[in-house]
Amino acid sequence: MTVETTGPDATSSGTEAADAGNTEAGYDGAPARLGGDGRATVVAFANQKGGVGKTTTTVSLAAALAQGGARVLLVDLDPQGNASTGLDVRIGPDDPSTYDVLVEGAAVADAVRTTAIPGLTVLPSSLELAGAEVELVQAMARERALARAIDAVRPDHDLVLIDCPPSLGLLTINAFVAADQLLVPIQCEYYALEGLSQLLRTVGLVEQNLNAGLTIGNVVLTMFDARTRLAQQVVDEVRSFFGPRTFDTIIPRTVRLSEAPSYAQPITVFDPESRGAGAYLTLADEFAARLEVAAYDPARARRVAAEMKAAEVAAEQALADAAQAGDTPAEETDR
Ligand SMILES: Nc1ncnc2c1ncn2[C@@H]1O[C@H](COP(=O)(O)OP(=O)(O)O)[C@@H](O)[C@H]1O
Ligand SMILES: [Mg+2]
Repeated sequence: MTVETTGPDATSSGTEAADAGNTEAGYDGAPARLGGDGRATVVAFANQKGGVGKTTTTVSLAAALAQGGARVLLVDLDPQGNASTGLDVRIGPDDPSTYDVLVEGAAVADAVRTTAIPGLTVLPSSLELAGAEVELVQAMARERALARAIDAVRPDHDLVLIDCPPSLGLLTINAFVAADQLLVPIQCEYYALEGLSQLLRTVGLVEQNLNAGLTIGNVVLTMFDARTRLAQQVVDEVRSFFGPRTFDTIIPRTVRLSEAPSYAQPITVFDPESRGAGAYLTLADEFAARLEVAAYDPARARRVAAEMKAAEVAAEQALADAAQAGDTPAEETDR
């Protein structure tokens, strides 16, 4: 199988891609729009395919950018809630979530949670959100519910990053109406480009009808495996289609990246010295430069990541020392 047969022009027609601002030669959209006026830039992490690295990229970038000094709000728009749990944010049945913001008109400020990383907050998702897709259909201005809610908190953040579900339904449309631009993770695998013309067409429709300011933004290649020829072919194909919109940084496939969610930590907290953390820190540098995130400092991101790890190791060592000395740690005597 060749990569060409899986390209955007092969899956449907080139004309559809052209509607979304594309030419035969590839994507040729307008420069990405930023928030401006001291207001957060809102970025939707989208690709209707599941398992391409949307959540991993949203969580890892959000963490790295916050460690570098940016005020980041991560909006978990996937009913699976993997971004929330990946940052150790768990909510009870009565706690407000993205569902309440979208369907009940709750304020974002009343539903956000803090994380272990200063400067990074999360609007958590819940399984109820799966029902929102249906419930919203009845609502007035149903495509604008998220945009309205996020606009209220734009002045308090540098960035709002939205982790989209794997579909192009009403939840994702809400993200596209709320966003200034997209970040599209593309997995270096078979059929990598399949479905992208449908994504670009949806962006084009939202731009024409609901959010004139929306642009594609950037594309990032994920789960790159240097041992396969196919991965390099996908990289070449994506670069020739999206041109300079493709981030130079490529995210490698690593075991540490796949382990981090089960520890409820982003990779830059779980293992800041790992190859995956290095890749996401470099991606954060590139992202902050392209989106002009003035609050972000690359050196600070690395220093804070190292300090957080050192503090965790020191705390574990103190516990081990106490156990060795026959002391019972305080938190256990309390019980
Ligand atoms: N670079 C990577 N290396 C190894 N595993 C990864 C990498 N990126 C993501 N994964 C794993 O692949 C699976 C799908 O990734 P995820 O970010 O959840 O995709 P999506 O949100 O698009 O469905 C998850 O189990 C995740 O831990
Ligand atoms: Mg996901």
